[in-house]
Amino acid sequence: MRADDGSDCHVLVIGSGGAGVRAAIEASGYGDVVLMTKTIPGKGGCTPMAEGGYNAVLREQDSCEIHFGDTMKGGAYLNDPELVSTLVAESPARVADLIRWGAVFDVTEDAMVCQRPFGGQRFPRTCYAGDRTGHEMMVTLIDRLGACDVRVLSEVTALDLLKDGDRVIGAVAIDDCGELLTVTADSTILATGGGTRIYDISTNSSSGTGDGFAIGYRAGAELIDMEMVQFHPTGAVYPYDARGRLVTEAVRGEGGILKNRLGERFMKNYDPERMELSTRDVVARAIATEILEGRGTPHSGVSLDVTHLPRHQIEEKLPVMLEQFLKFGVDIRKEPMEVAPTAHHMMGGMRITRECRTTLPGLFACGETAGGVHGANRLGGNALADTQVFGKRAGEFAGKAEPRRKKIDPEQIRRQEERLAAFLRGNANPAYVVRELRLAMWDGAGIFRTAGGVKDTLKVISRLSKSALIADSSRNLVECCTVQNMLLTASIVCRAALLRPESRGAHTRTDIRQTWDAQNSPFSHTFLAQDREGIGKSGGAA
Ligand code: FUM
Repeated sequence: MRADDGSDCHVLVIGSGGAGVRAAIEASGYGDVVLMTKTIPGKGGCTPMAEGGYNAVLREQDSCEIHFGDTMKGGAYLNDPELVSTLVAESPARVADLIRWGAVFDVTEDAMVCQRPFGGQRFPRTCYAGDRTGHEMMVTLIDRLGACDVRVLSEVTALDLLKDGDRVIGAVAIDDCGELLTVTADSTILATGGGTRIYDISTNSSSGTGDGFAIGYRAGAELIDMEMVQFHPTGAVYPYDARGRLVTEAVRGEGGILKNRLGERFMKNYDPERMELSTRDVVARAIATEILEGRGTPHSGVSLDVTHLPRHQIEEKLPVMLEQFLKFGVDIRKEPMEVAPTAHHMMGGMRITRECRTTLPGLFACGETAGGVHGANRLGGNALADTQVFGKRAGEFAGKAEPRRKKIDPEQIRRQEERLAAFLRGNANPAYVVRELRLAMWDGAGIFRTAGGVKDTLKVISRLSKSALIADSSRNLVECCTVQNMLLTASIVCRAALLRPESRGAHTRTDIRQTWDAQNSPFSHTFLAQDREGIGKSGGAA
């Protein structure tokens, strides 16, 4: 145990992306806060990598009703309508917070925040800072965090939640030297982001390993709709090291055109009305189909072309894209990019209320770790808004909790000690386990799924989960714990995929013929917890 072990606080926030930092800022108004992060605030998580923008209703011609309708339709009507109403109603105030704290969004000549069109939206409502919107937000949030009374534990990885009976009372964690420590809290917030690093090709930073899903599940919380994994239509396809890196939807928002190897603008065959600005599930399937049917480019992608746009528009609105592709040897002002789908976002997650309460007392969740806001397919630009709206709410309602006495059961610590000690005696290289997991997930639980393919993937996961992972030294213990989280998250995704006997949003089952459309589906959320799993009936409780 570390010298500073045993610290107690009012609110413990786990995760330092946009949602976690926003939660910590808010909670600091109610008592002492600890922000625990396996990285360094501002450096990990996916918010700093989010490029395209933040959705908010800011103009008279737009309305919360339209934003609500777009989000529900885009989410194939699987979204929790209460959470969506909250998102659209509060997102304008949360972007105003950011601007008040110093965020510099692009503005028009009359000083209105610029907004661009994004897929599936009837109004151009995506606010942006060029194509580095998340970075601008994160810099602002970190600056604000510095002015709040929050104790930051950097490079400290939460292993599991501490419980007193049913109630969550903090977490047991490990630092970068392999030392265990505990932090108890009146309220604990899980804001660890998503987990698409369980796939071979992903936009996520290396921290997107599904830790919060695994930690919450092990503690007994309920997860919903975990089969809903978003594949962003446009990721880089080469060089090898850059595979999957985000090519922002802003490229299409600014007028970028998709073409196959034959030069055909193929989106006319999939969504002739919305074309490149259809929803992500539709565009990702369209691109995957073009590639699978042999109309892909030499690097197994399709072309994304902005050469018809004025040079100044590319240079001013897409400077990161321009620079990124110049490094790959492609001048996007003169030649098209090559792109293909990449695992991007988990729509499912911890079941939450509007107050961000999970199914476990004392535990809150927000951002990508929570489910229900985005249904079966998220609209681009709604994730950054989600981090701020639900980050603030989690911080507020966690902060309002009554202080209480907490008693740590020593058995919980002993179990962690045993878990770590076993890694020092193991024999399976975690890197090989991860490699096999990612390939299996990409092959069997990707854009197109069948029950057989998902079951085969589950078999691989089950075999890999029995590996005796090895840590060369106490510094590698975290890696082994992370791999266990990835395996558990992957198994939950696959089990949820088998629970949903329909194609809906991002979940495409090619082995099922169905007669209903999403709005008339007989099914609602899939749910998984340690003691129960299933799928709710439409109009039913789940
Ligand atoms: O394409 C993008 O810039 C990603 C945005 C998002 O996922 O919301």
